[in-house]
Amino acid sequence: LRVVVCVSGGGTNLQALIDGVRNGKIRNTEITGVISNNPCAYAMKRAENAGIPSFCISPKDYEKRVDFNQALLDKLDELQPDLIVLAGFLVILPKELIQQYRNRIINIHPSLIPSFCGTGYYGLKVHEAALARGVKVTGATVHYVDEGTDTGEIILQKAVEVLPEDTPEILQRRVMEQAEWVILPGAVDAIAMKQGN
Ligand code: GRF
Repeated sequence: LRVVVCVSGGGTNLQALIDGVRNGKIRNTEITGVISNNPCAYAMKRAENAGIPSFCISPKDYEKRVDFNQALLDKLDELQPDLIVLAGFLVILPKELIQQYRNRIINIHPSLIPSFCGTGYYGLKVHEAALARGVKVTGATVHYVDEGTDTGEIILQKAVEVLPEDTPEILQRRVMEQAEWVILPGAVDAIAMKQGN
């Protein structure tokens, strides 16, 4: 399975995928490229360290949004992915991209969808909302990406307990370690097995 990973930040989910391919947890898969909208994202360093071609394509580099959209589409046409993984990619995807790669784009969201999802729920905000609501269980979800926000078919979920002393940062870390870094590699492996090569 040829996989391209889109990132914006620290890249710990990307790292989980890199490690999963390396240690055999993710079978029949090659990460053929990493695309970031943020040139300083540590995820780019992780790609470089793993010898994976990485590309910075940012809306800020283009006068018009349509030009950014085209640059992203062109890069993906060049990389020819079987699967696009959004791992903390903070960019709205062009609808042409979603149409062209329908059911071949997945996203990791740090809550048990349909809780705490939709626009505005990113980064720590998800965990702040979970703590504010007082849920005893949260977790992460891997889902297919469609035209909505966090609305596509759910592939995998994993629950994580919320502890009384949790701060948003502590909870985020637990959700990443115990849920995200488990189900994202698991989902890619399952898709690779379904593809059969
Ligand atoms: C993670 O919290 C993930 O759930 C969300 O964005 C963050 C990405 O973190 N999608 P990283 O860049 O993978 O470390």
